[in-house]
Amino acid sequence: MNVHDFAAAKRDGRKLTFTTCYDWWSARILNESSVDGILVGDSAAMVMHGHLTTLPATPEMMSFHIAAVARGAPDKFLIGDMPFPWHRKGIPAAMDVVDAFLTAGAHAVKLEGIEGHEEIVRHIAGSGVPVMGHVGLTPQSVNALGGYRVQGRSEDAAERLVEESRRLEQAGCFSLVVEGVTSGTAAAITRAVSIPTIGIGAGIEVDGQVLVLHDLAGLQREVKPKFVRVFADGYGMLLKAVEDFDRSVKDGSFPSEDETYE
Ligand code: KIV
Repeated sequence: MNVHDFAAAKRDGRKLTFTTCYDWWSARILNESSVDGILVGDSAAMVMHGHLTTLPATPEMMSFHIAAVARGAPDKFLIGDMPFPWHRKGIPAAMDVVDAFLTAGAHAVKLEGIEGHEEIVRHIAGSGVPVMGHVGLTPQSVNALGGYRVQGRSEDAAERLVEESRRLEQAGCFSLVVEGVTSGTAAAITRAVSIPTIGIGAGIEVDGQVLVLHDLAGLQREVKPKFVRVFADGYGMLLKAVEDFDRSVKDGSFPSEDETYE
């Protein structure tokens, strides 16, 4: 997939799928799957490093994860998430992060929001680097939003999000993550822009969906937002494997003769 394929998917009404990924071994699995793209999200700070928000993500942390994923999924379109506040530090600082991400193997970058950094979005996209926008519940603004709250509930709020989405398209974004908004607002955004909208907690009337890999694979049990569908019990499967190993060592059945060098 490339940016033209994403545009064509929207024109043809073909749904797009993205998942997050942060490491080499799960990237190998995604590379073999039919997902359309991989997002190395700043959710890495939470999922891989145990922080409570995405705010502790840094360019170094993100580049490290992007490089591992790029090695594991060489056939997939890879998007690196700009950590806060690097798109608020001016064009040179933002471009240093873009440079680091491209060097690590990303094909595109994602930036949250638009107010105050529209020119930076325009500059990155104008430099020939595909930019994915992100509107709605933008987790980097969790403290200003007063928590992880669904956005776009009132008519005014919905109109504001539609307007922001239009501006992101005009600034050169090739696609748009629409996170944590009512389905009606997500549908209005999807109709208002000609670039594909990728929803997360945004209902079905969008052009595609993205989920955190560890959520969809049931690899974490701490939180399960309403919008997540858990497609497997990855946590239980790993726990069982480790418990079986532990028991087998302790009851003397591992290693067997077949698992031992003569
Ligand atoms: O950081 C992330 O993983 C994201 C997605 C959930 C859209 O931004």
